[in-house]
Amino acid sequence: MNARPAAPALAALLLALRVVGDLQVADGPEDSGDDVLDPRKIVDLLGEDDYLDVLVGGGEDGKFLSLPGFGYFDSCINPPAECPNSNITFWLYTRATAEQPEQLDVAVPESIQYARWARGKPVKVLIHGYTGDKDYSPNTEIRPAYLNHSEYNVISVDWSPLAPSPCYVQATYNVALVGNCTAQLLDEMVRQGVTRLEDIHVVGFSLGGQVAGNIANYITSGTLTRITGLDPALPLFTTISTAPRLDSSDAEFVDVIHTNAGWKGKLMPSGHLDFYLNSIIQQPGCSWDSSCDHARAPAYFAESISSPQGFWGFSCSSIVSFYTGVCSPDDAAELVLMGENANSSSRGIYFAYTNPTYPFAKGHDLGEAVEAVHNATSQVGEAIQGAATNTSSEAAEAAQNAGAEVAGAAGGVAAVHRPSASD
Ligand SMILES: *[C@@H]1O[C@H](CO)[C@@H](O)[C@H](O)[C@H]1NC(C)=O
Ligand SMILES: *[C@@H]1O[C@H](CO)[C@@H](O)[C@H](O)[C@H]1NC(C)=O
Ligand SMILES: *[C@@H]1O[C@H](CO)[C@@H](O)[C@H](O)[C@H]1NC(C)=O
Ligand SMILES: *[C@@H]1O[C@H](CO)[C@@H](O)[C@H](O)[C@H]1NC(C)=O
Ligand SMILES: *[C@@H]1O[C@H](CO)[C@@H](O)[C@H](O)[C@H]1NC(C)=O
Ligand SMILES: *[C@@H]1O[C@H](CO)[C@@H](O)[C@H](O)[C@H]1NC(C)=O
Repeated sequence: MNARPAAPALAALLLALRVVGDLQVADGPEDSGDDVLDPRKIVDLLGEDDYLDVLVGGGEDGKFLSLPGFGYFDSCINPPAECPNSNITFWLYTRATAEQPEQLDVAVPESIQYARWARGKPVKVLIHGYTGDKDYSPNTEIRPAYLNHSEYNVISVDWSPLAPSPCYVQATYNVALVGNCTAQLLDEMVRQGVTRLEDIHVVGFSLGGQVAGNIANYITSGTLTRITGLDPALPLFTTISTAPRLDSSDAEFVDVIHTNAGWKGKLMPSGHLDFYLNSIIQQPGCSWDSSCDHARAPAYFAESISSPQGFWGFSCSSIVSFYTGVCSPDDAAELVLMGENANSSSRGIYFAYTNPTYPFAKGHDLGEAVEAVHNATSQVGEAIQGAATNTSSEAAEAAQNAGAEVAGAAGGVAAVHRPSASD
């Protein structure tokens, strides 16, 4: 997603439309004569980038085809559910091939057999999200960070033909297919002996995090050792069952970094080890731009690969406890490391802070943490309430309701979703 400054008023409007979007899902697109519900109108009003902000909740298994936006946009592809698939490609980068990646194609086994693998080195599979491609987040941040750090085989999954703007709904629908085709490639790599399954680590950003979870449903050579979810996508992943979304059953170790929780990213824990950064929904230096907040997840992870300070978090049993001040970094018995070098035995929910600019890592320095989180939470509450007050006409009531929910989350009740959402 492109960076697009979002004023608090826009944020409130988005919340209002999100509530309207939920109603839309409940009623079905055909039943409503209100053209504010037409996704094309929402795109005209907000711009394509923020379209996905209105798509929260409501999706259930098999219901994608009736969701608002599905099929509205001529440019969206709904490919045959077959692997290998010409719309999903895989690119191998090593130090030797960093400028000229080699395509790995299951339909051409020699492309895998004779690729210039860094034999015996770890395999890192990077998966982009909505509007991404192999040269977009998280590839742009993380691929150079790995290759600079050491010898790795970095595979960038490119499913860009299936995830262009404004095709968010279709992209979500295609997540299972991308998981299937990626699993097929990994199985073929293991079968050919170019790598061992235990050397593979899958890293997915946003919708790519949900793709990563789907690999587990299709891989046949065993259980993945590790999946890292970078702010795994929330819109349309609130009420659907656990099968299509990232959770701790998808690998032996699933670690997750949340930077825009409850907005573009999932609010609830999605792995064995979940880190929430700063105010959990906003990141310092991002000034109300949720795309910036969201993209900090791959930025922090990339830095963690060779950060001398490291990102360290303190334990807290839940988001509610965190916001009500039950847990404080001052009395944290033990800090836990986030990112590439996380301890795969670590379990639980951790909270950590960053600097507003690179280098983001603060190491063990949590000195200002309590004050910073207090400031951040009161800012969220004030801004939402202020913007809701200022929003006029039909959006006002919904905005106030939604704003109250977010303010509630900031104040201690983690309720960005409707209470009926399973998570
Ligand atoms: C996964 O891909 C394989 C290979 O094309 C196909 O046979 C299978 O039906 C797919 N599974 C699903 C659930 O789409
Ligand atoms: C995507 O797949 C369709 C067929 O489903 C094909 O016509 C199209 O060329 C593919 N696009 C790309 C970029 O490979
Ligand atoms: C590459 O690695 C060197 C040495 O480890 C480090 O000093 C440098 O900052 C790294 N560059 C990038 C772009 O990460
Ligand atoms: C990883 O965590 C486990 C359990 O907390 C601990 O026993 C172990 O010493 C840790 N390993 C490292 C390398 O820190
Ligand atoms: C918190 O807010 C106060 C008042 O605006 C400010 O002086 C202080 O620097 C902030 N502290 C942190 C850690 O951001
Ligand atoms: C409401 O909008 C006015 C004009 O845009 C602005 O000056 C004011 O600060 C806003 N109030 C709040 C509480 O955001």
